[in-house]
Amino acid sequence: MIKMPLSFNTFVKLGANSELSKLELSSILEEFSITELKFQEWRKYLLLELSKEHQAKLIKSLENSGSIIKAGSIKLEEKVRNLNELKPKITAYLTKTIQTLPIQKTRKIKISMNIQTSTNEIRKQINSMIKKSIYQTSSDLLIETKIRSPKKETTELSPFQFFKDNFHKRGIEITCLVIKSKIFLGHVRWVTNPLKDIKQDEERPVRLFTHGTSIKLARTLVNLSKIEKGDVLFDPFCGTGTILLEGLKQDLKAIGIDRDPKCVRASKANLNHFSMQHSSKEKVKDKWSIYLLDSQDLNQVMDTEIGGLVTEPYLGPFIKDLPTKEKAKDTMIMLEKLYTKVLQRSVEYLKTGHRIILIIPEYRYTQEYSIYPDFQKIAIKCNLKLQTESTLFNVKLPVQIGRKHNIINRKLVIYTK
Ligand SMILES: C[S@@+](CC[C@H](N)C(=O)[O-])C[C@H]1O[C@@H](n2cnc3c(N)ncnc32)[C@H](O)[C@@H]1O
Repeated sequence: MIKMPLSFNTFVKLGANSELSKLELSSILEEFSITELKFQEWRKYLLLELSKEHQAKLIKSLENSGSIIKAGSIKLEEKVRNLNELKPKITAYLTKTIQTLPIQKTRKIKISMNIQTSTNEIRKQINSMIKKSIYQTSSDLLIETKIRSPKKETTELSPFQFFKDNFHKRGIEITCLVIKSKIFLGHVRWVTNPLKDIKQDEERPVRLFTHGTSIKLARTLVNLSKIEKGDVLFDPFCGTGTILLEGLKQDLKAIGIDRDPKCVRASKANLNHFSMQHSSKEKVKDKWSIYLLDSQDLNQVMDTEIGGLVTEPYLGPFIKDLPTKEKAKDTMIMLEKLYTKVLQRSVEYLKTGHRIILIIPEYRYTQEYSIYPDFQKIAIKCNLKLQTESTLFNVKLPVQIGRKHNIINRKLVIYTK
């Protein structure tokens, strides 16, 4: 029998905002000079065909991603009607995989199963088949296994459980996707660690909930900016410094401006705290500056080229009820002017070919209608190129962030100089 090569060898589980995850993934893969790729999207999963080298690089890069949940290898691909042929293959695959786990001393592992299929019958069959294979493998390898079976068709380990239950150390999560007539089977190799982010969030000296961008979103925005290590990230509306901090963590320099003294104090305290934890304290301290200023006057303090601008700016006054159309329109015009002025001034310092990652608000003023600053007009006025599609996965830009029924929503815009 001729062995067919695997077509898809990698799976990626997208976050709640699939478009944002795909945009970030596209940006990561572009870094490896991948501009074309065979992929399939199904539910919250993307199946990818990558070289071994690119797969390894991707898994490593995901460590810094903000919007992706999990990723892993696909090791077996089979037609559903050949289900019976799968059992010996699963056993062989499990044996090989378990042997790579660091369990020499304890001889104990945890196995979780994530079987995603639309038909309950197939799920039951696959579940029982994998279980039998696990029992056979564990008795062959003289190990003790604790199996966590899915309760429902779509249940799988959350990243939280993954780390809380120590699956990352002594366990594997088998992922089985049944897409139409095909079964794809493999295991998770990377999971986002929410405990690390919660810790980082709680340990920050100052948190101002009304002024903060979420850590994960900030990380995604920094990744999308593609600023090279050692270059300057500029946030003209830096708030508590979340974006700046994510930049520093990725070895970028950071400049922040905020007009609110409370926010400047908060940013400084947060970045100081980070610098002090770092092994080369003084060096990190030299890498950032924060200024108290209206960012429309940024040329009073800027004296250096910047590798990228990343910001979640002032999004207008906080409102609880739907605004009138006129009120929403006035706010958008005011913000459009502010963004245009700040970007026009910033572009002077931005390296050619480099990016601006900007969040803009979208105000809903009736159940159906909304309004947002004219991001195309901003591009023209600032002499910037507006990105309308991602290189991979056909993501249309701007990407919507937040829930549709919110009064104030957000859009992610990417410009290039
Ligand atoms: C949404 S917050 C930024 C959140 C920030 N990315 C963070 O993670 O903390 C917007 C910030 O813009 C600041 N701001 C508003 N108008 C400004 C202006 N004209 N110049 C500078 N800062 C301004 C506000 O004080 C506020 O801290």
